[in-house]
Amino acid sequence: MKFFIDTANLQQIKEAQDLGVLDGVTTNPSLMAKEGISGEKNVINHYKAICAIVDGDVSAEVISTDYENIIKEGLELAKLDDKIVVKVPMIKEGVKAIKYFSSEGIKTNCTLVFSAGQALLAAKAGATYVSPFIGRLDDISTDGLSLIEDIRLIYDNYGYETQILAASVRHAMHIIECAKIGADVMTGPLSAILTLLKHPLTDSGLAQFLADHAKAAGK
Ligand code: G3P
Repeated sequence: MKFFIDTANLQQIKEAQDLGVLDGVTTNPSLMAKEGISGEKNVINHYKAICAIVDGDVSAEVISTDYENIIKEGLELAKLDDKIVVKVPMIKEGVKAIKYFSSEGIKTNCTLVFSAGQALLAAKAGATYVSPFIGRLDDISTDGLSLIEDIRLIYDNYGYETQILAASVRHAMHIIECAKIGADVMTGPLSAILTLLKHPLTDSGLAQFLADHAKAAGK
């Protein structure tokens, strides 16, 4: 399973890249705003800075909602770097744009997906990635992970190549369950990735090993 980090924070992207397990980055307008990035030039420069750090796909989201401007914006973003994946919302104009980008060989990530029907449309339009938001479904007392299971089944039934990018991942259990189901990618905060490291028996076991080693060495 590929690991993407869901942030626009350069420090956290560097930390995940240094860990050696990072396969890409996803951003969205809220994450850019959280880092205080605004204005077309600053946003573009920030995407360039992210691409310089990471080896892998970097999702950059369009903010237009009409077909002409989604295309215009997406083409500008795609020109920035081969790593850029144009992130397009699951709306009618977005589906049409994904079809166009796909015919031009431009990678896309269909975002704000909350149902299997939306995921089916994204695959038919030729999206490279589909982003079901599992955490936000959990937030409204709907099982986000069962949506990943449904999409996996549907895509496997027909051999769709669109990759399932489990998004809005909040914690280690989401990551593990997504891996069991067979999501192609997960994107989440650095904290969720780092939680995978943790087990109390690892900590107590290591402390014991080091203590025994020191005792044997007469320290
Ligand atoms: O980037 C899209 C998605 O991962 C958002 O996650 O935590 O804001 O629901 P979250």
